[in-house]
Amino acid sequence: MEVVVLPDAQAIAERAADAIEAVLVAKPNAVLGTATGSSPLPLYDELVRRNQAGKLSFKDVTGYMLDEYVGLPVDHYERYANFMERNLRSRTDMAPGALHGPDALNPDPQAACDDYERALAEAGYADVQILGIGSDGHIGFNEPGGPLDSRTHLDKLTEQTRRDNSRFFDNDINKVPTMCITQGLATIMEARKLVLIATGENKAEAIKHLVEGEVSEQWPATVMQRHPDALVLLDAAAASKL
Ligand code: GLP
Repeated sequence: MEVVVLPDAQAIAERAADAIEAVLVAKPNAVLGTATGSSPLPLYDELVRRNQAGKLSFKDVTGYMLDEYVGLPVDHYERYANFMERNLRSRTDMAPGALHGPDALNPDPQAACDDYERALAEAGYADVQILGIGSDGHIGFNEPGGPLDSRTHLDKLTEQTRRDNSRFFDNDINKVPTMCITQGLATIMEARKLVLIATGENKAEAIKHLVEGEVSEQWPATVMQRHPDALVLLDAAAASKL
């Protein structure tokens, strides 16, 4: 794992965009693994900027999301499919319909999980996967205690995650969904390259475990230590406990 501490979110966005650009230039029809949350937003802005400047094409890129809330209506602002459409897909030349996610509206969640895992396998998994991290150490929505060899599955959000994410739901934890569908840790580990972004003091404990801790189900992101090509980009606050 390569760990880099950079001065601010923009420097992180540029470094992450460089890593993604290198993959997309080598393979214009690459599979891009996308993440939601606030951490990757400056990166999406940077990718859009490079796309609009004609330096980077998404024309033949296919995107696969990490996860999706269960229980949100199709047009809900915080539905991750809408988040990705709004922040990346619609602002670039990525083809309509080229960004995929788990079908959390399927009344049979297990079928939705199996379908998504199969689609990822058929696509050959991500050439490069963008990741954020939860303050409890989750990646995707793989909450603490889940098996390290998990595949796409239905998961229950922890109280901590729902509290963290309530800022997107009128600061009302009761509006935050309780369930999600997420790529499993083994699914994420299939990606050829991982690029994790963490900013802010709130992530410092999880980052300490990720970088210095034992690989453990209690801190799911630690599984990344076993990946041959993982880049971890931090600001000083996220790195403050290292
Ligand atoms: C959600 C997403 C994760 C993301 C996390 C951190 O829980 N499912 O993929 O990493 O939020 O979000 P933020 O970057 O806003 O702190």
